[in-house]
Amino acid sequence: MTRMAVILAAGQGKRMKSKLYKVLHPVCGKPMVGHVLEAVKGIGCERPVVIVGHGAEAVQQTLGDAAVYALQEQQLGTGHAVLQAAPVIGGAEGVTIVVCGDTPLVSSETLEALIALHEAEGAAATILTAELEQPAGYGRIVRGEDGSVHRIVEQKDCTPEQAAIREINTGTYCFDNRKLFEALGAVTNQNAQGEYYLTDVIGILQGRGERISASVASDPAESIGVNDRIALSEAERLMRLRIARRHQTDGVTIIDPASTYIEADVQIGPDTVLYPGTMLRGATVIGEDCVIGPAADLTDTTVGSGTAIRQSVAESAQLGSDCAVGPFAYLRPGTRLADHVKIGDFVEIKNAEIGAGSKVPHLSYVGDAIVGTGTNIGCGTITANYDGYNKSKTVIGDDAFIGSNSNLIAPVTIGHGAYVVAGSTVTHDVADGAVAIARARQVTKEGYADKLRGRARTKKEAAAKDKTKGGARE
Ligand code: UD1
Ligand code: CA
Repeated sequence: MTRMAVILAAGQGKRMKSKLYKVLHPVCGKPMVGHVLEAVKGIGCERPVVIVGHGAEAVQQTLGDAAVYALQEQQLGTGHAVLQAAPVIGGAEGVTIVVCGDTPLVSSETLEALIALHEAEGAAATILTAELEQPAGYGRIVRGEDGSVHRIVEQKDCTPEQAAIREINTGTYCFDNRKLFEALGAVTNQNAQGEYYLTDVIGILQGRGERISASVASDPAESIGVNDRIALSEAERLMRLRIARRHQTDGVTIIDPASTYIEADVQIGPDTVLYPGTMLRGATVIGEDCVIGPAADLTDTTVGSGTAIRQSVAESAQLGSDCAVGPFAYLRPGTRLADHVKIGDFVEIKNAEIGAGSKVPHLSYVGDAIVGTGTNIGCGTITANYDGYNKSKTVIGDDAFIGSNSNLIAPVTIGHGAYVVAGSTVTHDVADGAVAIARARQVTKEGYADKLRGRARTKKEAAAKDKTKGGARE
Protein backbone atom coordinates (compact mmCIF):
# COMPACT_ATOMS: atom_id res chain seq x y z
CA MET A 1 0.00 0.00 0.00
CA THR A 2 1.21 3.54 -0.72
CA ARG A 3 2.80 5.11 2.31
CA MET A 4 2.44 8.83 2.90
CA ALA A 5 3.49 10.99 5.82
CA VAL A 6 2.57 14.32 7.34
CA ILE A 7 4.95 16.02 9.76
CA LEU A 8 3.49 18.82 11.88
CA ALA A 9 5.93 21.68 12.21
CA ALA A 10 3.96 24.93 12.06
CA GLY A 11 3.71 25.74 15.77
CA GLN A 12 5.75 28.48 17.36
CA GLY A 13 6.48 26.62 20.54
CA LYS A 14 5.67 29.38 23.03
CA ARG A 15 6.70 27.22 25.97
CA MET A 16 10.28 27.14 24.67
CA LYS A 17 10.54 30.93 25.22
CA SER A 18 12.93 31.10 22.28
CA LYS A 19 13.72 33.10 19.17
CA LEU A 20 14.37 29.79 17.43
CA TYR A 21 11.27 27.96 16.16
CA LYS A 22 10.57 24.91 18.26
CA VAL A 23 11.09 22.14 15.73
CA LEU A 24 14.48 23.64 14.78
CA HIS A 25 15.93 23.27 18.26
CA PRO A 26 18.73 20.73 17.91
CA VAL A 27 18.84 17.42 19.75
CA CYS A 28 22.33 15.91 19.54
CA GLY A 29 23.25 18.44 16.87
CA LYS A 30 20.29 17.88 14.54
CA PRO A 31 17.04 19.87 14.50
CA MET A 32 14.16 17.91 16.03
CA VAL A 33 12.21 17.96 12.79
CA GLY A 34 15.28 16.56 11.00
CA HIS A 35 15.24 13.51 13.27
CA VAL A 36 11.53 13.03 12.59
CA LEU A 37 12.05 13.36 8.83
CA GLU A 38 14.78 10.74 8.96
CA ALA A 39 12.54 8.29 10.83
CA VAL A 40 9.80 8.80 8.24
CA LYS A 41 12.21 8.33 5.33
CA GLY A 42 13.42 5.15 7.00
CA ILE A 43 10.05 3.52 6.27
CA GLY A 44 10.08 4.44 2.61
CA CYS A 45 8.08 7.68 2.60
CA GLU A 46 10.12 9.50 0.01
CA ARG A 47 8.20 12.79 -0.11
CA PRO A 48 6.67 13.51 3.29
CA VAL A 49 4.50 16.61 3.60
CA VAL A 50 5.82 19.01 6.23
CA ILE A 51 3.26 21.49 7.56
CA VAL A 52 5.00 24.82 8.08
CA GLY A 53 3.81 28.12 9.53
CA HIS A 54 5.89 29.82 12.19
CA GLY A 55 9.39 30.03 10.77
CA ALA A 56 8.24 28.41 7.52
CA GLU A 57 11.22 29.72 5.60
CA ALA A 58 13.72 28.57 8.18
CA VAL A 59 12.19 25.09 8.37
CA GLN A 60 12.17 24.78 4.56
CA GLN A 61 15.76 25.94 4.39
CA THR A 62 16.79 23.36 6.99
CA LEU A 63 15.08 20.39 5.35
CA GLY A 64 15.50 21.49 1.73
CA ASP A 65 13.96 19.32 -0.96
CA ALA A 66 13.87 16.26 1.26
CA ALA A 67 10.19 17.07 1.77
CA VAL A 68 7.24 18.90 0.22
CA TYR A 69 5.69 21.73 2.16
CA ALA A 70 2.18 22.89 2.94
CA LEU A 71 1.68 26.26 4.56
CA GLN A 72 -0.63 26.62 7.57
CA GLU A 73 -1.07 30.37 7.72
CA GLN A 74 -2.77 30.46 11.10
CA GLN A 75 -2.06 27.92 13.78
CA LEU A 76 -5.60 26.79 14.53
CA GLY A 77 -4.64 23.37 15.88
CA THR A 78 -3.14 20.03 14.88
CA GLY A 79 -6.28 18.93 13.01
CA HIS A 80 -6.29 22.12 10.98
CA ALA A 81 -2.58 21.58 10.35
CA VAL A 82 -3.07 18.11 8.82
CA LEU A 83 -5.90 19.46 6.67
CA GLN A 84 -3.36 21.70 4.90
CA ALA A 85 -1.89 18.55 3.35
CA ALA A 86 -5.21 17.83 1.60
CA PRO A 87 -4.23 19.44 -1.74
CA VAL A 88 -1.12 17.25 -1.85
CA ILE A 89 -2.37 13.85 -0.64
CA GLY A 90 -6.06 14.30 0.33
CA GLY A 91 -7.52 12.05 -2.38
CA ALA A 92 -4.88 9.35 -2.38
CA GLU A 93 -5.40 5.70 -1.55
CA GLY A 94 -3.03 4.33 1.08
CA VAL A 95 -1.81 4.76 4.64
CA THR A 96 -0.60 8.01 6.14
CA ILE A 97 1.72 8.40 9.08
CA VAL A 98 1.11 11.60 11.01
CA VAL A 99 3.87 12.62 13.37
CA CYS A 100 4.71 15.79 15.31
CA GLY A 101 7.91 17.64 14.53
CA ASP A 102 8.61 17.88 18.26
CA THR A 103 8.92 14.13 18.98
CA PRO A 104 12.54 13.60 17.91
CA LEU A 105 12.95 10.12 19.39
CA VAL A 106 10.34 8.35 17.32
CA SER A 107 12.13 5.62 15.34
CA SER A 108 11.65 3.98 11.95
CA GLU A 109 11.29 0.58 13.66
CA THR A 110 8.37 1.87 15.70
CA LEU A 111 6.69 3.45 12.66
CA GLU A 112 7.14 0.19 10.77
CA ALA A 113 5.55 -1.78 13.62
CA LEU A 114 2.69 0.74 13.77
CA ILE A 115 1.91 0.25 10.07
CA ALA A 116 2.14 -3.52 10.42
CA LEU A 117 -0.40 -3.53 13.26
CA HIS A 118 -2.65 -1.08 11.38
CA GLU A 119 -2.73 -3.30 8.32
CA ALA A 120 -3.08 -6.56 10.27
CA GLU A 121 -6.09 -5.20 12.14
CA GLY A 122 -7.66 -3.50 9.15
CA ALA A 123 -7.95 -0.33 11.23
CA ALA A 124 -9.02 3.14 10.11
CA ALA A 125 -6.60 4.66 12.61
CA THR A 126 -3.80 3.23 14.76
CA ILE A 127 -2.36 5.31 17.56
CA LEU A 128 1.11 4.99 19.04
CA THR A 129 0.53 5.25 22.79
CA ALA A 130 2.79 5.02 25.84
CA GLU A 131 2.32 4.21 29.51
CA LEU A 132 3.88 7.03 31.51
CA GLU A 133 4.45 7.51 35.25
CA GLN A 134 3.88 11.23 34.69
CA PRO A 135 1.26 11.61 31.95
CA ALA A 136 0.70 15.33 32.60
CA GLY A 137 0.59 17.49 29.47
CA TYR A 138 -0.29 14.68 27.03
CA GLY A 139 -3.64 13.64 25.56
CA ARG A 140 -5.11 10.60 27.38
CA ILE A 141 -6.31 7.41 25.68
CA VAL A 142 -9.88 6.64 26.71
CA ARG A 143 -10.75 2.97 26.25
CA GLY A 144 -14.14 1.26 26.56
CA GLU A 145 -14.90 -1.62 28.91
CA ASP A 146 -13.86 -4.10 26.21
CA GLY A 147 -10.46 -2.38 25.99
CA SER A 148 -11.09 -0.81 22.57
CA VAL A 149 -9.99 2.79 22.01
CA HIS A 150 -12.89 5.26 22.07
CA ARG A 151 -11.22 8.62 21.86
CA ILE A 152 -8.38 10.89 22.94
CA VAL A 153 -8.97 13.63 25.51
CA GLU A 154 -6.52 16.51 25.75
CA GLN A 155 -5.06 17.31 29.18
CA LYS A 156 -6.92 20.63 29.36
CA ASP A 157 -10.28 18.95 28.60
CA CYS A 158 -9.81 16.03 31.02
CA THR A 159 -12.17 15.20 33.88
CA PRO A 160 -10.26 14.22 37.06
CA GLU A 161 -10.88 10.52 36.25
CA GLN A 162 -9.51 10.95 32.71
CA ALA A 163 -6.51 12.86 34.05
CA ALA A 164 -5.66 9.77 36.12
CA ILE A 165 -5.27 7.64 32.95
CA ARG A 166 -1.60 6.84 32.39
CA GLU A 167 -1.84 5.74 28.77
CA ILE A 168 -1.05 8.77 26.60
CA ASN A 169 -1.15 9.76 22.95
CA THR A 170 2.39 10.15 21.61
CA GLY A 171 1.08 12.23 18.70
CA THR A 172 2.16 9.57 16.18
CA TYR A 173 -0.55 7.81 14.19
CA CYS A 174 -1.18 5.65 11.16
CA PHE A 175 -4.38 6.46 9.25
CA ASP A 176 -6.29 5.18 6.28
CA ASN A 177 -5.61 8.29 4.21
CA ARG A 178 -9.12 8.74 2.73
CA LYS A 179 -10.83 8.22 6.09
CA LEU A 180 -8.44 10.65 7.78
CA PHE A 181 -9.32 13.53 5.47
CA GLU A 182 -13.05 12.70 5.53
CA ALA A 183 -13.06 12.80 9.35
CA LEU A 184 -10.98 16.00 9.51
CA GLY A 185 -13.88 17.81 7.81
CA ALA A 186 -16.03 17.04 10.86
CA VAL A 187 -13.60 18.34 13.50
CA THR A 188 -14.76 21.47 15.37
CA ASN A 189 -12.99 23.78 17.79
CA GLN A 190 -15.40 23.36 20.72
CA ASN A 191 -12.84 22.65 23.43
CA ALA A 192 -10.78 24.24 26.20
CA GLN A 193 -8.22 25.64 23.74
CA GLY A 194 -10.58 26.63 20.93
CA GLU A 195 -8.45 24.60 18.50
CA TYR A 196 -9.15 22.06 15.79
CA TYR A 197 -7.67 18.96 17.39
CA LEU A 198 -6.34 16.15 15.25
CA THR A 199 -7.06 13.90 18.22
CA ASP A 200 -10.82 14.41 17.70
CA VAL A 201 -10.53 12.39 14.48
CA ILE A 202 -10.23 9.27 16.64
CA GLY A 203 -13.60 9.82 18.37
CA ILE A 204 -15.22 10.73 15.04
CA LEU A 205 -13.99 7.56 13.30
CA GLN A 206 -14.98 5.43 16.30
CA GLY A 207 -18.47 6.97 16.21
CA ARG A 208 -18.71 5.96 12.53
CA GLY A 209 -18.10 2.35 13.53
CA GLU A 210 -14.53 2.32 12.26
CA ARG A 211 -11.87 0.21 13.92
CA ILE A 212 -9.33 2.11 16.05
CA SER A 213 -6.17 0.32 17.01
CA ALA A 214 -3.43 1.30 19.43
CA SER A 215 0.11 0.13 19.94
CA VAL A 216 1.85 0.78 23.25
CA ALA A 217 5.44 1.89 22.58
CA SER A 218 7.89 -0.62 24.03
CA ASP A 219 10.30 2.21 24.84
CA PRO A 220 8.49 5.18 26.43
CA ALA A 221 11.49 7.36 25.52
CA GLU A 222 10.11 7.43 21.97
CA SER A 223 7.03 9.25 23.17
CA ILE A 224 8.78 12.33 24.49
CA GLY A 225 7.23 15.49 23.04
CA VAL A 226 9.43 18.52 23.50
CA ASN A 227 7.38 21.52 24.57
CA ASP A 228 9.89 23.23 26.88
CA ARG A 229 13.61 23.29 27.64
CA ILE A 230 13.28 20.71 30.40
CA ALA A 231 11.92 18.17 27.93
CA LEU A 232 14.57 19.31 25.44
CA SER A 233 17.40 18.29 27.77
CA GLU A 234 15.63 15.02 28.55
CA ALA A 235 15.30 14.29 24.81
CA GLU A 236 18.98 15.14 24.40
CA ARG A 237 19.95 12.72 27.19
CA LEU A 238 17.88 9.89 25.75
CA MET A 239 19.11 10.51 22.20
CA ARG A 240 22.71 10.66 23.44
CA LEU A 241 22.40 7.22 24.98
CA ARG A 242 20.68 5.87 21.87
CA ILE A 243 23.50 7.15 19.63
CA ALA A 244 26.13 5.77 22.02
CA ARG A 245 24.43 2.37 22.01
CA ARG A 246 24.47 2.30 18.21
CA HIS A 247 28.24 2.91 18.13
CA GLN A 248 28.84 0.41 20.95
CA THR A 249 26.92 -2.20 18.97
CA ASP A 250 29.17 -1.41 16.01
CA GLY A 251 32.32 -2.04 18.06
CA VAL A 252 33.24 1.33 19.58
CA THR A 253 34.32 1.40 23.24
CA ILE A 254 32.75 4.29 25.12
CA ILE A 255 34.12 4.45 28.64
CA ASP A 256 31.24 6.58 29.94
CA PRO A 257 28.30 7.11 27.54
CA ALA A 258 26.67 9.63 29.88
CA SER A 259 29.58 12.05 29.53
CA THR A 260 30.41 11.44 25.88
CA TYR A 261 28.58 13.64 23.39
CA ILE A 262 28.28 12.22 19.89
CA GLU A 263 26.09 14.07 17.44
CA ALA A 264 23.66 12.23 15.23
CA ASP A 265 25.65 12.10 11.97
CA VAL A 266 29.11 11.28 13.36
CA GLN A 267 30.79 8.09 12.09
CA ILE A 268 33.26 6.05 14.17
CA GLY A 269 35.25 2.95 13.22
CA PRO A 270 35.43 -0.22 15.32
CA ASP A 271 37.93 -0.62 18.18
CA THR A 272 38.14 3.10 18.67
CA VAL A 273 38.01 4.09 22.34
CA LEU A 274 36.27 7.26 23.49
CA TYR A 275 37.23 8.69 26.87
CA PRO A 276 34.90 10.86 28.95
CA GLY A 277 34.26 14.52 28.21
CA THR A 278 34.64 13.98 24.48
CA MET A 279 32.38 15.86 22.04
CA LEU A 280 32.15 14.69 18.44
CA ARG A 281 30.09 17.04 16.33
CA GLY A 282 28.75 17.72 12.88
CA ALA A 283 30.14 15.62 10.05
CA THR A 284 33.06 14.25 12.08
CA VAL A 285 34.38 10.89 10.86
CA ILE A 286 36.77 8.83 13.04
CA GLY A 287 38.65 5.77 11.79
CA GLU A 288 39.39 2.46 13.51
CA ASP A 289 41.66 1.89 16.53
CA CYS A 290 41.74 5.55 17.56
CA VAL A 291 41.96 6.77 21.13
CA ILE A 292 39.92 9.95 21.47
CA GLY A 293 39.86 11.99 24.69
CA PRO A 294 39.56 12.53 27.49
CA ALA A 295 38.06 15.90 26.62
CA ALA A 296 38.58 16.00 22.87
CA ASP A 297 36.20 18.40 21.08
CA LEU A 298 36.04 17.68 17.34
CA THR A 299 33.75 19.40 14.84
CA ASP A 300 33.49 18.45 11.15
CA THR A 301 36.85 16.73 11.49
CA THR A 302 38.17 13.61 9.77
CA VAL A 303 40.53 11.34 11.71
CA GLY A 304 42.44 8.43 10.17
CA SER A 305 42.86 5.09 11.89
CA GLY A 306 45.15 4.59 14.86
CA THR A 307 45.29 8.27 15.77
CA ALA A 308 45.25 9.46 19.38
CA ILE A 309 43.83 12.84 20.44
CA ARG A 310 43.87 14.04 24.04
CA GLN A 311 42.34 17.21 25.56
CA SER A 312 42.30 19.09 22.26
CA VAL A 313 39.98 21.03 19.97
CA ALA A 314 39.71 20.50 16.21
CA GLU A 315 37.42 22.25 13.72
CA SER A 316 37.17 21.36 10.04
CA ALA A 317 40.51 19.57 10.25
CA GLN A 318 41.75 16.47 8.45
CA LEU A 319 44.03 14.12 10.35
CA GLY A 320 45.81 11.14 8.88
CA SER A 321 46.47 7.74 10.41
CA ASP A 322 48.67 7.06 13.44
CA CYS A 323 48.96 10.70 14.46
CA ALA A 324 49.31 11.88 18.05
CA VAL A 325 47.63 15.13 19.03
CA GLY A 326 47.66 16.98 22.34
CA PRO A 327 47.26 17.43 25.13
CA PHE A 328 45.99 20.98 24.60
CA ALA A 329 46.35 21.38 20.86
CA TYR A 330 44.04 23.59 18.78
CA LEU A 331 43.58 22.46 15.19
CA ARG A 332 41.70 25.18 13.35
CA PRO A 333 39.97 25.03 9.95
CA GLY A 334 42.19 23.95 7.10
CA THR A 335 44.53 21.86 9.22
CA ARG A 336 45.67 18.83 7.21
CA LEU A 337 47.91 16.31 8.93
CA ALA A 338 49.39 13.45 6.88
CA ASP A 339 50.10 10.10 8.59
CA HIS A 340 52.38 9.70 11.64
CA VAL A 341 52.33 13.40 12.50
CA LYS A 342 52.87 14.53 16.08
CA ILE A 343 51.22 17.71 17.32
CA GLY A 344 52.05 18.27 20.97
CA ASP A 345 51.00 20.53 23.80
CA PHE A 346 49.94 24.16 23.31
CA VAL A 347 50.27 24.04 19.54
CA GLU A 348 47.88 25.89 17.25
CA ILE A 349 47.62 24.94 13.59
CA LYS A 350 45.53 26.85 11.05
CA ASN A 351 45.18 26.37 7.30
CA ALA A 352 48.35 24.34 7.19
CA GLU A 353 49.49 21.05 5.76
CA ILE A 354 51.93 19.00 7.86
CA GLY A 355 53.69 16.21 5.97
CA ALA A 356 54.06 12.59 7.02
CA GLY A 357 56.21 11.96 10.08
CA SER A 358 56.70 15.64 10.87
CA LYS A 359 56.55 16.89 14.43
CA VAL A 360 55.37 20.10 16.08
CA PRO A 361 55.86 18.96 19.65
CA HIS A 362 55.34 22.07 21.81
CA LEU A 363 54.21 25.71 22.08
CA SER A 364 54.00 26.65 18.41
CA TYR A 365 51.76 28.50 15.99
CA VAL A 366 51.76 27.21 12.43
CA GLY A 367 49.37 29.11 10.16
CA ASP A 368 49.02 29.38 6.37
CA ALA A 369 51.90 26.94 5.94
CA ILE A 370 53.01 23.88 4.06
CA VAL A 371 55.42 21.65 5.94
CA GLY A 372 57.09 18.70 4.21
CA THR A 373 57.74 15.21 5.52
CA GLY A 374 60.06 14.27 8.38
CA THR A 375 60.51 17.85 9.51
CA ASN A 376 60.87 18.95 13.13
CA ILE A 377 59.47 22.27 14.25
CA GLY A 378 61.16 23.23 17.52
CA CYS A 379 59.46 24.42 20.67
CA GLY A 380 58.12 27.97 20.49
CA THR A 381 58.36 28.37 16.71
CA ILE A 382 55.83 30.69 15.11
CA THR A 383 54.93 31.49 11.56
CA ALA A 384 54.38 35.25 11.46
CA ASN A 385 51.71 35.06 8.78
CA TYR A 386 49.85 38.35 9.28
CA ASP A 387 51.01 41.94 8.90
CA GLY A 388 47.74 43.46 10.01
CA TYR A 389 46.42 43.47 6.43
CA ASN A 390 47.63 40.43 4.50
CA LYS A 391 48.05 36.76 5.23
CA SER A 392 51.26 35.25 3.83
CA LYS A 393 52.50 31.74 3.38
CA THR A 394 55.36 29.81 4.94
CA VAL A 395 56.74 26.81 3.05
CA ILE A 396 59.08 24.37 4.80
CA GLY A 397 60.60 21.44 2.92
CA ASP A 398 61.17 17.80 3.85
CA ASP A 399 63.59 16.76 6.62
CA ALA A 400 64.13 20.33 7.73
CA PHE A 401 64.95 21.32 11.28
CA ILE A 402 63.53 24.52 12.74
CA GLY A 403 65.29 25.36 16.00
CA SER A 404 63.40 26.38 19.11
CA ASN A 405 61.89 29.82 19.40
CA SER A 406 62.24 30.74 15.73
CA ASN A 407 60.11 33.37 14.03
CA LEU A 408 59.44 32.61 10.39
CA ILE A 409 58.33 35.89 8.84
CA ALA A 410 56.05 35.01 5.92
CA PRO A 411 56.17 34.91 2.98
CA VAL A 412 59.22 32.72 3.38
CA THR A 413 60.49 29.36 2.15
CA ILE A 414 62.80 27.01 4.05
CA GLY A 415 64.33 24.38 1.78
CA HIS A 416 64.57 20.61 2.08
CA GLY A 417 67.02 19.48 4.73
CA ALA A 418 67.66 23.08 5.78
CA TYR A 419 68.49 24.05 9.33
CA VAL A 420 67.28 27.15 11.16
CA VAL A 421 69.20 27.65 14.37
CA ALA A 422 67.32 28.29 17.59
CA GLY A 423 66.14 31.82 18.26
CA SER A 424 66.34 32.96 14.64
CA THR A 425 64.03 35.46 13.05
CA VAL A 426 63.99 34.35 9.43
CA THR A 427 63.02 36.98 6.89
CA HIS A 428 64.69 35.57 3.75
CA ASP A 429 64.31 32.24 2.01
CA VAL A 430 66.68 29.47 3.09
CA ALA A 431 67.93 27.20 0.31
CA ASP A 432 67.88 23.40 0.42
CA GLY A 433 70.54 22.10 2.77
CA ALA A 434 71.48 25.59 4.06
CA VAL A 435 71.79 26.75 7.66
CA ALA A 436 70.18 30.04 8.68
CA ILE A 437 71.36 31.95 11.71
CA ALA A 438 69.40 35.12 12.24
CA ARG A 439 70.07 36.36 15.74
CA ALA A 440 72.52 38.70 17.45
CA ARG A 441 75.94 37.21 18.14
CA GLN A 442 76.51 36.40 21.80
CA VAL A 443 78.95 38.55 23.84
CA THR A 444 80.33 37.06 27.09
CA LYS A 445 82.13 39.33 29.59
CA GLU A 446 84.36 37.33 31.94
CA GLY A 447 83.95 38.11 35.66
CA TYR A 448 81.42 40.82 34.96
CA ALA A 449 78.54 39.28 36.98
CA ASP A 450 79.63 40.65 40.36
CA LYS A 451 80.10 44.13 38.91
CA LEU A 452 76.61 44.01 37.50
CA ARG A 453 75.17 42.84 40.82
CA GLY A 454 77.02 45.64 42.68
CA ARG A 455 75.61 48.23 40.33
CA ALA A 456 72.10 46.89 40.85
CA ARG A 457 72.49 46.86 44.63
CA THR A 458 73.66 50.50 44.71
CA LYS A 459 70.68 51.53 42.64
CA LYS A 460 68.26 49.77 45.01
CA GLU A 461 69.85 51.38 48.13
CA ALA A 462 69.69 54.86 46.57
CA ALA A 463 66.00 54.40 45.86
CA ALA A 464 65.34 53.26 49.47
CA LYS A 465 67.18 56.33 50.85
CA ASP A 466 65.19 58.66 48.61
CA LYS A 467 61.95 57.19 49.95
CA THR A 468 62.95 57.75 53.65
CA LYS A 469 63.86 61.39 52.87
CA GLY A 470 60.48 61.90 51.20
CA GLY A 471 58.72 60.48 54.29
CA ALA A 472 60.56 62.91 56.66
CA ARG A 473 59.45 65.90 54.60
CA GLU A 474 55.76 65.16 55.12
C1 UD1 B 1 -0.29 17.02 20.94
C2 UD1 B 1 -1.57 16.17 21.00
C3 UD1 B 1 -1.57 15.38 22.31
C4 UD1 B 1 -0.32 14.53 22.39
C5 UD1 B 1 0.95 15.36 22.19
C6 UD1 B 1 2.16 14.45 22.03
C7 UD1 B 1 -3.31 17.40 19.82
C8 UD1 B 1 -4.52 18.25 19.93
N1 UD1 B 1 -2.71 17.04 20.93
O1 UD1 B 1 -0.35 17.95 22.03
O2 UD1 B 1 -2.71 14.55 22.38
O3 UD1 B 1 -0.27 13.86 23.66
O4 UD1 B 1 0.86 16.17 21.00
O5 UD1 B 1 3.35 15.17 22.02
O6 UD1 B 1 -2.95 17.05 18.72
N2 UD1 B 1 1.25 22.26 15.19
C9 UD1 B 1 0.99 22.78 13.95
N3 UD1 B 1 -0.06 23.61 13.78
C10 UD1 B 1 -0.87 23.95 14.80
C11 UD1 B 1 -0.62 23.40 16.07
C12 UD1 B 1 0.44 22.57 16.23
O7 UD1 B 1 1.71 22.49 12.99
O8 UD1 B 1 -1.83 24.71 14.55
C13 UD1 B 1 2.40 21.35 15.35
C14 UD1 B 1 3.44 21.85 16.32
O9 UD1 B 1 4.46 22.56 15.66
C15 UD1 B 1 3.97 20.57 16.95
C16 UD1 B 1 2.83 19.59 16.80
O10 UD1 B 1 1.93 20.14 15.88
O11 UD1 B 1 5.10 20.07 16.25
C17 UD1 B 1 2.10 19.33 18.11
O12 UD1 B 1 1.60 20.54 18.62
P1 UD1 B 1 1.69 20.90 20.15
O13 UD1 B 1 1.10 22.24 20.35
O14 UD1 B 1 3.04 20.68 20.65
O15 UD1 B 1 0.68 19.79 20.74
P2 UD1 B 1 0.66 19.20 22.20
O16 UD1 B 1 0.00 20.18 23.09
O17 UD1 B 1 2.00 18.74 22.58
CA1 CA C 1 4.00 18.85 21.70
